[in-house]
Amino acid sequence: MGRCSLAFVALSTCLLIGYSIAVGPYEWMGRDNFDLVMEKMISVNEKNCMELSIDSLRLPVNSLGQVPKFNILPQIVIFPNRTKLIHLHNMALNRGYFYSYILQRLNTSEFDFPMLPGFMYYYLSAAATVTSAPGLLNGSAILFDTDCQYANWFPTILNFNTTLPLFGPKAWRLDDYQDNVNWLREPTNHTIIIEDLGSGPDHNYTARWHRLNPLFLYDPDPRIKIDFIPDRRTDFQGKHQYDFNIYCANSTGVMCKLPNTTRNFFGPPSPGIQETYQPVYFSRPYFDCGRTNMWVVTSVGPVVDVMMRYSQAINLLRPRYVAVSTSDIDFRRIDFDPCARSVDSSDYTYFSGVARCGPTTLCEPLPGYGFQRGGYMCHCLPGFRYPYWQNGPFLGRDIEQASDPESKQFECIPVKWRIQRLTQSGTSTSGTGAKRRRRRSASDVKLLVQLMRLYNASSMSELELRAGEHDRLDKEAAVKAKRANSGVLKYVNLAKSAVGNAVSYLVNATVAVVNSTAQPAAKRQLEPRHPLPEATQRLLDERKSRVKRTIDTSADYGEQNIYYLGRLSSFAPDRYNAVKALIDQTIAITPETCGSTPPDKLVLPGEVGFGADKQFEVQARTALRLAHFLSAFQQNVNPDEIYGGLRGDKFLNEHQIYGEVFSNVMADQWILSSGVYFDRDSFSNPETNRKLEFFGPTAYKIGSEQRTDQKQRELSFIAEDAAGWPSSRAYYEKDWFKVLKERWASNTYGLEKFVTKPYVRFDLNGTSSKPFQRFPIYYRAPRFEDVYWSKPYFDCNPNKDPNRRSLSAWVITASVPFFGISPYKTLQFMGVVAVTVPLSKMDINMCPSNFYEANFFKNTAPCHFDTTYCVPIIQNRFALQNYKCECRQGYEYPFNDISIWFHAGGTVSQNYEKMMNNEQNYYRMLTCREGSASSLLPTMAVLIVGALAAWLSSLTSVQC
Ligand SMILES: *[C@@H]1O[C@H](CO)[C@@H](O)[C@H](O)[C@H]1NC(C)=O
Ligand SMILES: *[C@@H]1O[C@H](CO)[C@@H](O)[C@H](O)[C@H]1NC(C)=O
Ligand SMILES: *[C@@H]1O[C@H](CO)[C@@H](O)[C@H](O)[C@H]1NC(C)=O
Ligand SMILES: *[C@@H]1O[C@H](CO)[C@@H](O)[C@H](O)[C@H]1NC(C)=O
Repeated sequence: MGRCSLAFVALSTCLLIGYSIAVGPYEWMGRDNFDLVMEKMISVNEKNCMELSIDSLRLPVNSLGQVPKFNILPQIVIFPNRTKLIHLHNMALNRGYFYSYILQRLNTSEFDFPMLPGFMYYYLSAAATVTSAPGLLNGSAILFDTDCQYANWFPTILNFNTTLPLFGPKAWRLDDYQDNVNWLREPTNHTIIIEDLGSGPDHNYTARWHRLNPLFLYDPDPRIKIDFIPDRRTDFQGKHQYDFNIYCANSTGVMCKLPNTTRNFFGPPSPGIQETYQPVYFSRPYFDCGRTNMWVVTSVGPVVDVMMRYSQAINLLRPRYVAVSTSDIDFRRIDFDPCARSVDSSDYTYFSGVARCGPTTLCEPLPGYGFQRGGYMCHCLPGFRYPYWQNGPFLGRDIEQASDPESKQFECIPVKWRIQRLTQSGTSTSGTGAKRRRRRSASDVKLLVQLMRLYNASSMSELELRAGEHDRLDKEAAVKAKRANSGVLKYVNLAKSAVGNAVSYLVNATVAVVNSTAQPAAKRQLEPRHPLPEATQRLLDERKSRVKRTIDTSADYGEQNIYYLGRLSSFAPDRYNAVKALIDQTIAITPETCGSTPPDKLVLPGEVGFGADKQFEVQARTALRLAHFLSAFQQNVNPDEIYGGLRGDKFLNEHQIYGEVFSNVMADQWILSSGVYFDRDSFSNPETNRKLEFFGPTAYKIGSEQRTDQKQRELSFIAEDAAGWPSSRAYYEKDWFKVLKERWASNTYGLEKFVTKPYVRFDLNGTSSKPFQRFPIYYRAPRFEDVYWSKPYFDCNPNKDPNRRSLSAWVITASVPFFGISPYKTLQFMGVVAVTVPLSKMDINMCPSNFYEANFFKNTAPCHFDTTYCVPIIQNRFALQNYKCECRQGYEYPFNDISIWFHAGGTVSQNYEKMMNNEQNYYRMLTCREGSASSLLPTMAVLIVGALAAWLSSLTSVQC
């Protein structure tokens, strides 16, 4: 890409002369905000960042657009260009919920104090957040406010009711190319460094003078609003109280009837749509000086605790923000919207208008480009079409490489003679009463060709060729047909006019309508009545196939080549019926009827879930994060560890795991339930020192029935121990458990190895930091590709059993294994982490795709593939309309619509179905017609030709 090399050149000049200007390589590219930001970004590096002012270390406040907001997330469509920011948002929130939960769950006495997370928990939890999201997250931290951490890992030197001055474990990915064990000298991306930001020189990160503080801990700008610590909110508005009920298992297969725990805790807020505050805010992009030395964006959410915790004076207890939970992402990986937006639009950012689309086109951002030029495409405006050489929209990356003369070529041509969209009554007359048109004589064709000469000299030769070919075929066909059977001659003639005239694309709109409706009507007449002689039939077939144009280009659209018109462009009517039946089946099953439905009807084929790994990536990574954490923790924790005053963590206890599954469900709008399912005898309860046969804490997004208040019900959650599920639905018999166990129990080959380098504080006040006793710490954990996706199924409660919790919806479960250490010091499969997501949020891709893609819905979009191609669209809906049919190269959208230039999937599917049911429809009109103009500018000649052609067609197309 020209831009990258430019950046490189600019960077090297910068190093040479110490100053540089970013400009486009060609004159037509004016200097814009992107260039200004590039200049700023390349002028800062790890050597000079310490000396630069705060303002040169950060980008303008409005550099980020469309940041996720907690209260509107459930109502918007999630596009792929926001997935990374949503993961960033959810991870900050997830840790915020978890630490709020656990700090208040175990805060009563000296007895439960040791069971709170120790320093290893904080360290490895932050590390797992980073290692489970390569390419998404670069860092994760919990930063406590002054005197808010009652640390339990200094039992001999810190009294249990006293606090550490500051505590801020932060993990980030390290460029390890210089490690002496890294022979390849290539970053592995698997090395994590964890430091306590509250130790070392200048460690008071909460102080105003501190470098970090203005960058992401505190930013009072109303568009940013990060001010969680120190907590100045005296009201309870920003601290919601959540209820939770936990049902235990009496023994394997026996569930408790009543919840054994009913409590509540204060956590990050969960604002309704009216409220103006959010639980998570995003910093402006800043240079992370001295750590990653990259431009990053940080999401910041609060952690709530009841302070002063062990004070005798109960009336002093109040919830307050004690810490912030943060996650970082490389700014260059965030997609931005380069299209022009009006200043008062909510999508307006610093980069609006950076795209270089021409005035006849409409700009649309493309996902996956990050902070790079060219992440957009230019569609023709409604009422315009592409010049004949252009296949599909103009791509930004082509435009950004265009030289000065080339830059004018990315314009569209106006479409003449547009059709008013027909109403229901309009279709009925033209659909039924169509009779065949008078055949156009050879002299007509000559006249048309003459007109065309006037119209555009450059396309003349092609037209002449086509007209000549048309005549020749006409003659040939007539001769052959005469020879075969004079009786069928009339069919042949009929077919010839029906199958399409080579010059029909010259005629104006009215004819196009008549033509497209008349065609199939004529065919229908042709087919059944008398069987045609074989030779004639072959001839007819031959004619049909000759008329079809094949276009074969290599233009691509993201990963997939959708303009390709070879074998891929097919529509399978029987598949459509199967798909329709499947959708009907999913709709027919409701929580009321599912009990009486045969079990095999409650499971859909696995191919239905095709694409879930992309759409639910954020949710699956939440499960992966927990699997990474459980693996890291169980492979490394040692309660007997002593390092100066520091003590190792206790083993995992059930409160921590319940906290983890609760926070998975609470921090993500699409996770309906989440669980950690231990294999047989893998979990032992450190409180009772007893091994549990099975243990499966599962949290649900189901409000407590006792709550009548709607808002409070949204803030209440339920969990249960899945070990109590009856043996008919035991979790160790579910495919999402069994398949993973079969794969991983005997063979752990293929796990990824991660290296963490923890630094701990040297003394209580953190005057300096030192490497931990065991340094580095290793753990092995699964990759994202190891996530198992279940078939879509209906989670049913057949007998309405009040002691059974079910989601009563079509769902998909994603599960991922975690590993500990066996008594023989080998890696051991310990269980799986699962999240369950709603099928109703999944988009169906009905467009043609590669033969090896196991997509149930492939080839079921009833687009007219001879003139259109299919583009999937994202709506977060499980319905047969997530596509559009756009015009192919050389074709134009014939209707006079002000806002669209394609046939929307909903309309196409609906009309196709009506046609199959012999109802009134205009399916046949949902095509594109051959483009008729190739000149960029409408001239007088065009207008004359238009008038002539209109007059001519009124002559030639006399019908009835
Ligand atoms: C901590 O507890 C001890 C007794 O257990 C008490 O004397 C002391 O005042 C407490 N300190 C604080 C800071 O609450
Ligand atoms: C590490 O990450 C970089 C940037 O995403 C990538 O280019 C590189 O291939 C990765 N290295 C490995 C060994 O996967
Ligand atoms: C850090 O700075 C803040 C603000 O200056 C101050 O209130 C706090 O006591 C300091 N904390 C430490 C541990 O010095
Ligand atoms: C993300 O994609 C959608 C759909 O194409 C678009 O409407 C939106 O503006 C894009 N957002 C950004 C920030 O690029």
